[in-house]
Amino acid sequence: MNPVFLESTIGTSYDSIGIDLGKDKINIRGVKMRTAVYPGSFDPVTLGHINIIKRSSKMVDKLIVGVLNNSNKSPLFSVEERVNMLKEVCKDIENVEIEAFEGLLVEFLKEKNSNIIIRGLRAISDFEYELQIAQTNSSLDPTIDTIFLVTDVEYSYLSSSIVKEVAQYGGNVDQLVPRYISGLLKEKYNYKEDKNE
Ligand code: PNS
Repeated sequence: MNPVFLESTIGTSYDSIGIDLGKDKINIRGVKMRTAVYPGSFDPVTLGHINIIKRSSKMVDKLIVGVLNNSNKSPLFSVEERVNMLKEVCKDIENVEIEAFEGLLVEFLKEKNSNIIIRGLRAISDFEYELQIAQTNSSLDPTIDTIFLVTDVEYSYLSSSIVKEVAQYGGNVDQLVPRYISGLLKEKYNYKEDKNE
């Protein structure tokens, strides 16, 4: 007998109750469950990222936000901090899970039984890089598709790098990130200043 599953990290919806058929999961309405992965560095998560998370989570049964643990980069926030901050700011969004991953994104998707990658597009300048990533992933695993969501216009200039640039000089980032994240940025930069004294 196939096990019945009930999965919900945050809240419960009927679509998150169903039958596990091994590779596939069928929800209570008999429809194959669709899981998408929204990958990124999220160092830190911005209001632009949250905009993409909210909109894409409505299109799938489950959205996994994959936080890249990249040992070649030296992020401001550790991967644990980035995962925790995403958990906090996404706690009210149903069907969203936050997980760290390392290595190839396509392997992470395989592990999660997903073949949909979500990415945000802010401006034409993003396109070349995003096209390269999408085509690389598709050549590594042709069953994977990348869906691009155009970021709402008020966030089109916004990036984690811009947030860090402003925050490190004491600028106000309350319009760029959730309050919780601006508090953490203040702590992080104050802490660094103290350390250098
Ligand atoms: O937020 P970012 O830094 O633009 O996200 C980049 C990310 C995480 C999507 C990309 O670097 C990635 O998927 N890295 C994992 C390694 C990998 O799979 N590389 C092949 C595709 S470029």
